[in-house]
Amino acid sequence: MSATELVQKTQTSKPNRVQDAEPSTDKHMTNILPLKLRQLETPEQQSDFEPMTQNQPLLVHEQPVFDVIRKRRSVGQVTQEEPTREQIERMLEAATYAPSHHVTEPWRFIIITGTAREEFGNIMAASLSLRMEDRFSDKARAQLMRERNKPLRAPVIITMAMVNFKEMKGIPIENIESAGAAVQNMLLAAEEMELATLWRTGDTAYDPMVKRWLGMTPEDHIVGFIYVGFPKVTRPQRVPTHFSQRTTWLS
Ligand SMILES: Cc1cc2nc3c(=O)[nH]c(=O)nc-3n(C[C@H](O)[C@H](O)[C@H](O)COP(=O)(O)O)c2cc1C
Repeated sequence: MSATELVQKTQTSKPNRVQDAEPSTDKHMTNILPLKLRQLETPEQQSDFEPMTQNQPLLVHEQPVFDVIRKRRSVGQVTQEEPTREQIERMLEAATYAPSHHVTEPWRFIIITGTAREEFGNIMAASLSLRMEDRFSDKARAQLMRERNKPLRAPVIITMAMVNFKEMKGIPIENIESAGAAVQNMLLAAEEMELATLWRTGDTAYDPMVKRWLGMTPEDHIVGFIYVGFPKVTRPQRVPTHFSQRTTWLS
């Protein structure tokens, strides 16, 4: 499917759930990216955009941003109920409001859901097996099986990637910082919708085989895999080290 066909399909077929979107069979990044995002703030603002779903309320529990910041926690245990496509797109849209020096907007998103998670698990297990000295013992087989099942821990995984970021305008580390800010925006948007998220990396995020499967080159960077779902557990508020212990005032 060409990039143009994919865009047309995503704009006309109005899929309800994320998994209704046909996964790209072409592994080139350009074919995965150009999903049109909707504005969701007010009905007036929505009027310029064709709704993707009918009668699907977006469950946003509007709260002061500071409350959302304080409530956000990493939550690994989620149900298999899939967030709606609108909820995921709201997270992506939140990411795009992050600041970036020279307005490089260094982020790319690859959404892994449905059976693509199984394919991802196979790639993760294959890449792990290449890193293992012993891959045939019972212990190694069990470890590979656990690796294969990891993407099934949540119904949706948002991959935040940076493509050709060393060629982007500005200093590379500043673009990475900007991508980190974009991830935090996503996490906060999810928190506001009472979704659970967990930002994961690990060896998988640096593995060339995984990057290739995602349509990336080894030089591209995976900022994180954001596992998203509905929480199975409640987490206590985290009490971080008080900022005064990390702060110097010059006056
Ligand atoms: C860049 C990055 C990578 C992370 N990778 C993992 C990971 O691979 N596995 C994991 O369980 N948590 C991961 N985390 C989440 C942290 O463990 C978590 O944010 C930290 O324990 C603080 O808990 P909180 O998010 O609930 O405040 C990662 C966080 C960041 C920022």
